[in-house]
Amino acid sequence: MNPIFVAIDTTDLIRARDLAATLAPHVGGIKLGLEFFLAHGAAGVAAVRPDGMPLFLDLKLHDIPNTVVGALRAIAPVAPTFVTIHASGGPDMMRRAAGTAAEAGIRLLGVTVLTSMDDDDLRTIGQKGPVGAQVLRLAQRARDAGIAGVICAPHEVAALRLSHGPDLALMVPGIRPAWSVADDQKRITTPADAMTAGANHLVIGRPITAAADPVAAARRILDEL
Ligand code: C5P
Repeated sequence: MNPIFVAIDTTDLIRARDLAATLAPHVGGIKLGLEFFLAHGAAGVAAVRPDGMPLFLDLKLHDIPNTVVGALRAIAPVAPTFVTIHASGGPDMMRRAAGTAAEAGIRLLGVTVLTSMDDDDLRTIGQKGPVGAQVLRLAQRARDAGIAGVICAPHEVAALRLSHGPDLALMVPGIRPAWSVADDQKRITTPADAMTAGANHLVIGRPITAAADPVAAARRILDEL
């Protein structure tokens, strides 16, 4: 199975549609985020998504249970494969979200600690650190609530795989082939190293989408895997 979800981070509908169409035969799915969804909504997603292509809608839902359930029902017609939800939203919210997602055929991915936050940030907002321990704690809570997997940074993959075994889906951004530039990503790993550590899916954006030849870049990454 092709593990690459290509991150299409743009509000330009035509560019997003062209990229998705061009890359469809060479990636396992597309990832669209809040930026795109807020600009174009469900109709925009339908316009960009190639027929039958797995879709990761990175909406990072975080609200009271009733509202998260309502949001999932509202996007059910879009039929996303994966949707993200903040694991810090609590057990009740995640449990109810998991039930609604199951009815809609959506797989939920928990967001644990945002990779933009460090131990000091956790302390500032009153969360118990260090980051690594909080990631494992929230992943366990997500699991307990019936959430299918988590989105996690490359350096968190091995510990999550070790503590959860093969059933937890791990979606991993921060991926950079050795031949690409880091851009603004600080803690990166290569596609092969992430897969070896236990990732199931790789979120890869600019190394593919900003390449002179995006198809060649995607093919090169697949060859390296
Ligand atoms: O272009 P690049 O490969 O850096 O894109 C990575 C994608 O993964 C972006 O859509 C980014 O928002 C997302 N992401 C991330 N780090 C996280 C969570 C999501 O880079 N911790």
